[in-house]
Order: sequence, then C-alpha cells, then structure tokens
Amino acid sequence: MPNVEFLLADGGRRVVAAKVGESLMYAATRTLTPGIVAECGGNLSCGTCHVFVDAAWSSRLPPKSEEEEMVLEGVAEEPTEHSRLSCQIRMTAELDGIVVQVPASQR
Ligand code: FES
Repeated sequence: MPNVEFLLADGGRRVVAAKVGESLMYAATRTLTPGIVAECGGNLSCGTCHVFVDAAWSSRLPPKSEEEEMVLEGVAEEPTEHSRLSCQIRMTAELDGIVVQVPASQR
C-alpha cells in the first residue's frame, strides 16, 4: 500500500497507508487526518480537499483538468503551482511516499 505523508498545519506530520485506486482525499478522511474537509465528497466542487504537493512529487502527477483549475481558484488559502485537489489524485504504487502539505485553513 502506498504511503502518503501529510505535513499538518500545526507542524506535525502523519503517514497514512493508502489503498491503490482510492483518492488521496479519501485516504485522508477515512483516517481523520486534520485539515482535509472534503465537503463535497470528491465531486470536484468544494475545494476543501486542497493540498500543496511537495515540489518533487508535483511533476509526477497527471496534469490538472480545467475543472480542477477552476475550483482551485476559489480555495481558502492562496493556491500555488503545486496546489492540487486531493480528491483528484488517484493513488498508485508509484506514488508511495508522496508528501503533501495541508493548508492552514480550509473552508
Ligand atoms: S472533495 Fe470537494 S473538491 Fe475535492
């Protein structure tokens, strides 16, 4: 199972074992990882699953869809080039060890 390392807003870190095929958001919410709200349940409409993907990993992800770009424009914390909606990141064995920063605020 690929591991995801979450860098939490309080400075802590948490490593979660994700299942291949599930979204990074789902791996976070089913383990009650703080800061990933995911109000819309992965329907690409709320933006409360925003994460900053570590630069070393960001380029290994498939490109954002137009819809993802649009939702990212409305997230609570200013998005960067490494911003992604975690509900759109499908976990694969190749993503084992991915590191993501959880924003300080999600709305
Ligand atoms: S969970 Fe709502 S956009 Fe990802």
